[in-house]
Amino acid sequence: MRAVVLDRYGPAELLTVASRSVPEPLPTEIRVKVAAAGVNPVDWKTREGAGMAKVLGHPPVVLGWDVAGVVESVGPGVTRFAIGDRVFGMPWFPRQAGAYAEYVTAPSRHFARTPRELSDVEAAGLPLAGLTAWQALVDVAQVRPGQRVLVHAAAGGVGHLAVQIALSRGAHVIGTASSSKHRLLGGLGLHEAVNYRGTSFEHVVEPVDVVLDLIGGEVAMRSLEVLRPGGLLISLPSGSAADAIAEAPRRGLRATGMLVEPDGDGLEELADLVRTHRLRVLVEETFTLERVAEAHRLGERGATTGKLVLVV
Ligand SMILES: NC(=O)c1ccc[n+]([C@@H]2O[C@H](COP(=O)([O-])OP(=O)(O)OC[C@H]3O[C@@H](n4cnc5c(N)ncnc54)[C@H](OP(=O)(O)O)[C@@H]3O)[C@@H](O)[C@H]2O)c1
Repeated sequence: MRAVVLDRYGPAELLTVASRSVPEPLPTEIRVKVAAAGVNPVDWKTREGAGMAKVLGHPPVVLGWDVAGVVESVGPGVTRFAIGDRVFGMPWFPRQAGAYAEYVTAPSRHFARTPRELSDVEAAGLPLAGLTAWQALVDVAQVRPGQRVLVHAAAGGVGHLAVQIALSRGAHVIGTASSSKHRLLGGLGLHEAVNYRGTSFEHVVEPVDVVLDLIGGEVAMRSLEVLRPGGLLISLPSGSAADAIAEAPRRGLRATGMLVEPDGDGLEELADLVRTHRLRVLVEETFTLERVAEAHRLGERGATTGKLVLVV
């Protein structure tokens, strides 16, 4: 099979298409013929030797965790899927999944059926970003109707899904984004958009119950100023928010980092939101496997609206 192989950690031009043997599914696993693979910030962070590079270990490695495709082979013991089923998922994270390839094998419970409403490209943009938003807002924050939620980087991969998930829980949702993206966010149902470039959000946002911070660093620290007493800051990337997380309890607030986990049940919840027209996946651009370096370079600029996806 064709796969994008990284022989050493470093710049995007090291990503090269090479030949690899097709993986065999073990008991409880399925083999998926990959139609599309999502590209996430953790991919380029890992490529550079940060991100999950320590988990993946010495190269060669195959990057990518977001998979959408068709079940091509079923290992012994699998009851949930049959050959030919369309599935999507974020298998194995943070271990190597090798989604930038024609085939992936993984435990069946790391996948869910792709809703008819989603193309393979859209489905490939959903798992990692969608599960991050779901696990943060629903599992950790337990957002309830009437609560006020602030999402930083609301137009990005995680952000645009987080906005819709928070809305589906009945929250009043505020998001930060460049002004050129406010119309699009309004179309998703966002209640208030803040142009973080022209305005200090902490000066204009009324107190909120939850902040989902997808920027970290000083944005995490400034986010403490907009929380109600007892309010919760969830900051990803978590490492850069250590100071804010330590400071929160001193101010009567709660703060935590988080790392997304494979979650078949969470995928089913996301699929249900899609089927009931409460969740849309926005894809800014698609790339062939040969153009993967371009996708990484574009993503690294940090200005993506929605998702970048590889068509396999
Ligand atoms: N811990 C975990 O489990 C986990 C999981 C997923 C993601 N993450 C992390 O979360 C972060 C976001 O991921 P992502 O996939 O959403 O990234 P992304 O799609 O690349 O985010 C791009 C968006 O960020 C916005 N942005 C950049 N700087 C901003 C700022 N200062 N304020 C507000 N918006 C800003 C951009 O909007 P403008 O063009 O308007 O600037 C753009 O729309 C990454 O660092 C990623 O590694 C962590």
